[in-house]
Amino acid sequence: MNISICVCTACHVNGAKDIVEKLQNLVAENNLGDKVELKASFCDGDCKDGVYVTVDGKGFSLTADKVEEFFKVNVIDKLA
Ligand code: FES
Repeated sequence: MNISICVCTACHVNGAKDIVEKLQNLVAENNLGDKVELKASFCDGDCKDGVYVTVDGKGFSLTADKVEEFFKVNVIDKLA
C-alpha cells in the first residue's frame, strides 16, 4: 500500500510534518513497515481543507486530529 503526503507550501502550513510523523509512528506501532510505504508528494490542487494525502491513488484531505481514525479506516481495515 502506498501512502503519499503532500509537502508543498499550503500542506506544509496545514501541518504536513505532523501528519507525516503521526503516520510514521502508526506504521511502526502496527508493524506495517513491510506493507505500507510512505512517500512525499507535491501539490495536486486539493489543499483547502487540510493536508492532501493519497492511499493507493485515492485522495483525502487530512487534519492532524483525524490521523488515527483515517489510519484505522483506510489502512488497517483495508489490509485486514
Ligand atoms: S499544497 Fe498540498 S495539495 Fe496543494
